[in-house]
Amino acid sequence: MDTRDRIDELVEAAREMRSRAYAPYSEFHVGAAVLAEGEVFRGANIENASYPLSVCAERNAVAAAVLAGHRSIDVVAVVADGDAPTPPCGGCRQVLNEFGPQLLVVCESESGERAEWTLPEILPHAFGPSNLGK
Ligand code: THU
Repeated sequence: MDTRDRIDELVEAAREMRSRAYAPYSEFHVGAAVLAEGEVFRGANIENASYPLSVCAERNAVAAAVLAGHRSIDVVAVVADGDAPTPPCGGCRQVLNEFGPQLLVVCESESGERAEWTLPEILPHAFGPSNLGK
């Protein structure tokens, strides 16, 4: 099956995860799912009373994929509260770049509006492993 054929499944997984977010401070619920070498991994934002320790949905999904042994991510789907699709924050773009410099970003709002970008479109001139000679 082609990567594109998995997008609806991935968005659905992200939507499901949004309902599991722990976001009592911002009250902004975010779910994410990544497609890594054909497998789906999920995440949601988990906040903390010590605010800077909060972790975004995308980074939790990337961590799940990496901990399962994957090192390559093809697609990330993000579903968040609000009327407009929420793109990954700058920090998450950087973390996504580590494992999928060309990946497809699919974002859907609570109401179902969808937007798509490639990571290079939203993180041009990325700093990555090659800058460290890796
Ligand atoms: N958040 C995410 O989970 N992903 C993003 O890309 C944007 C922000 C979370 C972090 C915090 O828990 C809440 O949304 C408000 O910033």
